[in-house]
Amino acid sequence: MPETPTPPASLITRIRARLGPKEFPSDDRGRIRMVVDSLVLHLHPSKVPVTTLKWTYTWGLGGLSAVLLTMLIFTGIILLNNYTPAVPQAYLDILELRSNVWFGELIRNIHHWSANLLIVVAVLHLIRVFATGAYRHPRELNWLIGIAMLLLIIGANFTGYLLPWDQLAFWAITVGTSIVSYVPLIGESLTRLILGGPEVGARTLLNFYSLHIAILPLGIFTLMMYHFWRVRKDGGLTLPKSITPTPEEEKPERVTTLPHLVRKELVFAVAWIAAVLIFSMLVPAPLEGIANPDLSPNPAKAPWYFMGLQELLLHFHPLVGAIVIPGMAVFGLFLLPFVDVRLDNVGVYFRSGRGRSLSLLAVGLGIFLTPAWVLLDEFILDWVAWLPGWDPLLSNGLIPLALIALGLFLLDEWITRSLNANPEEQILFFVTFLFTAFIILTMIGIFFRGPGMALFWPWDMPVH
Ligand code: HEM
Ligand code: HEM
Repeated sequence: MPETPTPPASLITRIRARLGPKEFPSDDRGRIRMVVDSLVLHLHPSKVPVTTLKWTYTWGLGGLSAVLLTMLIFTGIILLNNYTPAVPQAYLDILELRSNVWFGELIRNIHHWSANLLIVVAVLHLIRVFATGAYRHPRELNWLIGIAMLLLIIGANFTGYLLPWDQLAFWAITVGTSIVSYVPLIGESLTRLILGGPEVGARTLLNFYSLHIAILPLGIFTLMMYHFWRVRKDGGLTLPKSITPTPEEEKPERVTTLPHLVRKELVFAVAWIAAVLIFSMLVPAPLEGIANPDLSPNPAKAPWYFMGLQELLLHFHPLVGAIVIPGMAVFGLFLLPFVDVRLDNVGVYFRSGRGRSLSLLAVGLGIFLTPAWVLLDEFILDWVAWLPGWDPLLSNGLIPLALIALGLFLLDEWITRSLNANPEEQILFFVTFLFTAFIILTMIGIFFRGPGMALFWPWDMPVH
């Protein structure tokens, strides 16, 4: 007689057998709690140092990036229900979304504002990681992953920008993608590949759509999971440790993750979701008339996060402004953990009191020198750049770049000779200075460039 196969044991029976009768909860409430606990403990260790629970250490910026990303994925999937990546249907769909779809406008607003906020928050998180020196060993890889995520987030924002297919989208993407054409040798082909043709059109919309709804979010999400895992693998968050550690720094007090950390995370996440929701109810995402390739707005600006780059392009030969300087900046960020290798004062904001003063000085100089240089270039140096017979790559590219390098060298001489800055403080100073300069350039581009991209005071702009 054939043997009747024994049915496979249920999941609960198998877990019960593994854990033994004592640990396995007997009621539903206890079992739910067990599942939630083990989910949480996949993300966090069971105990965390009290120091890392202070808001003023991480400001919750990594967690907030994750919250925003989750909101983007949820609202993005809802938006898909009412969106066709075709010309002119894309624009008509957005109009319909705003007027005929229940909560359509709100969902779009949430998607729009979370996306823009995500760039700001991810950059602030990068600044906090930089300021606490948390990119140093053993967290080099997580720093690199973070930069890769930031680039993908900017990519997701950029591709999303085109999808409403309005004037704003069309011209910002036209200006933004023109930057790619300055890549030496392959620039033209690369632009054609991205645009799917010689200019922004229906194929570009389709290309951007597939990048936007599948490839980029998948890449960001996968990297984020790995990023979280690495935080644990690298021994949790950095802990403040001075050169002569106190007993408390040597053996920090720890508390259980549940409820101490999780409760804080939940309150923080709910508060931010509420804030984004309220903001999205009050402030609609911009939408202009349907894209018109024959009617260029004046000024035609790239999306706000590329305005620093567009500003550089106004001062330098495109090869230098669009490729050499940004390339060096990203490469420098990648290199940071490998040039700054001393492990003292990891986890201490700006390393020490001296470090704080030097960073403050760097911010002050950045705020003062960047507009000064923009004005100098705009009104005095510009005519040198276009002297007849000069190769613009030399006069408007390499010579100003060499002048800036000379300025940085003199600044370095000053902080090392007069202020006795050591190599780590020099790195702190220059990264802070250059970062501030980039933010100021971005602000000049956003607020102080008017028709013809000429400098202007925002309050002089005619209201239309
Ligand atoms: C989607 C974007 C990102 C998410 C969701 C994310 C998430 C997180 C979270 C939750 C933490 C733990 C604690 C904290 O909040 O600081 C963390 C730590 C860290 N993140 Fe990110 N991050 C993102 C982007 C970045 C970027 C742009 C960088 C830098 C280039 C970066 C580098 C790091 C490093 C080095 C740590 C370890 C910090 C330490 O041990 O103190 N992350 N990240
Ligand atoms: C990192 C993640 C993401 C970012 C930064 C992002 C960013 C953006 C931005 C800035 C827009 C333009 C919004 C506007 O002004 O109208 C947009 C539109 C859109 N996104 Fe995303 N998005 C992300 C993820 C997703 C995902 C995962 C989906 C779908 C699965 C999605 C679907 C859409 C759709 C259908 C639109 C067009 C509708 C509209 O413009 O409102 N997005 N996205």
